[in-house]
Amino acid sequence: MTFPDRVISGAVHYFRVHPDLWADRLARVAAMGLNTVETYVAWNFHSPAPGTYDFTGWRDLPRFVELAGEQGLQVLLRPGPYVCAEWDLGGLPAWLLRDPGLRLRCCDPAFLAAVDDYLDRLLPLVVPLQATRGGPVVAVQVENEYGSFGDDADYLRHVRDGLVGRGIDVPLFTSDGPGPDHLASGTLPGTLATVNFGSRVAEAFGELERFRPGEPKMCMELWHGWFDHWGEQHHTRDPGEAAAVLEEILAAGGSVNLYMAHGGTSFGLWSGANLEAGHQPTVTSYDYDAPVGEAGEITEKFHAFRTVIGRYAHLPEREPPALPPRLAPQTLPVERWAPFGAASAAWGDAVHGPAPRWMEEVGSGRGLVLYRGSVLVPPDGGRLVLEDLADRAHVFADDRLVGVVDPAEAAAGIELAPRPDGAPTRLELLVENRGRVNFGPGLGRDRKGVGAVRLGNRFVHGWQTVPIELDADGFTDAVAFGGEPAGEPAPTYAGVTVHVDAPADGFLALPGWGRGFVWLGGFLLGRYDEAGPQRTLYAPAPLWRAGANEVVVLEMAHVGERVELRDVSDLG
Ligand code: GLA
Repeated sequence: MTFPDRVISGAVHYFRVHPDLWADRLARVAAMGLNTVETYVAWNFHSPAPGTYDFTGWRDLPRFVELAGEQGLQVLLRPGPYVCAEWDLGGLPAWLLRDPGLRLRCCDPAFLAAVDDYLDRLLPLVVPLQATRGGPVVAVQVENEYGSFGDDADYLRHVRDGLVGRGIDVPLFTSDGPGPDHLASGTLPGTLATVNFGSRVAEAFGELERFRPGEPKMCMELWHGWFDHWGEQHHTRDPGEAAAVLEEILAAGGSVNLYMAHGGTSFGLWSGANLEAGHQPTVTSYDYDAPVGEAGEITEKFHAFRTVIGRYAHLPEREPPALPPRLAPQTLPVERWAPFGAASAAWGDAVHGPAPRWMEEVGSGRGLVLYRGSVLVPPDGGRLVLEDLADRAHVFADDRLVGVVDPAEAAAGIELAPRPDGAPTRLELLVENRGRVNFGPGLGRDRKGVGAVRLGNRFVHGWQTVPIELDADGFTDAVAFGGEPAGEPAPTYAGVTVHVDAPADGFLALPGWGRGFVWLGGFLLGRYDEAGPQRTLYAPAPLWRAGANEVVVLEMAHVGERVELRDVSDLG
């Protein structure tokens, strides 16, 4: 089988779309004139613990592929094992980081063993879905932009051979930046090379032609939009200008995959981060300024792309589906409060030891981790130093908040005063994981939690490490509400009830709040942050029910007074 002639594809990640909306989103991207949809497979979304895999419900990849087939779409599958994608650790399971010696994305035997187990679980589900067996999957990617990361050709071959050896017989491809060094390290002889870019088509395809004369040209990621970090500006790109780049690719006879056709949402705690100007966590929305918006909106870019595609391919007769209905706006005063400790029934078991443990060692590795210990502060005081903190800590001494610190501040130390009675001071460090780096040399370096604690130069020993997995099923059921908001800027739970007649799409906003987490009906929608740019969280129809819906907020900085349900999104 050869690579299909003209692929006009767009990316839709099943892990970023509620499964009840998969068919709707696939119908929308098909209506734009795509003949193919592309998805990554996020390994960590399927594997909560070593040797444990889930391919059901939201994780039912075969169902997504079959639904695409029902829309007449071919499927490009990009199973990693690494995918980047602004997804926690680039899709690699955080449990890989439990082994401090393990090296990612190379022929480290422990890494290869985990990769092989993943492929053993995944590929039996994919093999029957290939075009060679009558299914929609027409091609499969080997790794992802490996040329931007490493030069271990044996590893890349191991992944390729692992696909072939387990029954993948549709064409394979790699995908890289168009620079000669990227292509040299990221490609494999005999495997189609594709390139990723946002503009300068002739230059990129020219590089590819020099590297692989006469081979088909495909832009595997046309970056016509972009993602956002908290505290930075929102990215959009002019539809006309983006459509002109698409036209250039198609006019050159190339194939394309729009990254993204529909971006969706990094619900829960799955958002990744970059490490360039320090740790830069990515926002919850993955709208990406895509032609089909986060809530299914048919945008100006959709029409601009459809017009261009219509000049090179047959457009489907059908119109794109209408915008799904939205809930009427409501302002919801907080009805219930609870201190942070009120959900302790949902915390994980404490792990005792001389040193604090990494979050990855004690559970899923997502959410928060609480360290409990004590230290005798000498009469002239001392500086409490948190080594290798990731990513932010609330520091309590005898139940009093003495600092909210980022890694630089934590390394500089927090002044502690001695107790008048000469007794040891009780310490609690509540550390928040704000998302693991998913791209570049920082991948796998940011183990979460704290590496060691010192008072001056003396290590503090004797710690309990307690994982707090905010995205665990039923977590908010454990919040024992009652009482008033806490007086000081400590983490606090707030609850409101939202009555709706019938489920529909909504957007939750928290004006006046600081930053934290929001659940709807027990489902963790994701993080919010007054730093913006994102101001509303998408709450899709399948998460609502007719009647009363519980919204729970965990605020980490300063509480507001009300939650707003809105009928328009605000991404900044
Ligand atoms: C790279 C990766 C993608 C994504 C984009 C940026 O091209 O391959 O997974 O991270 O960058 O959105």
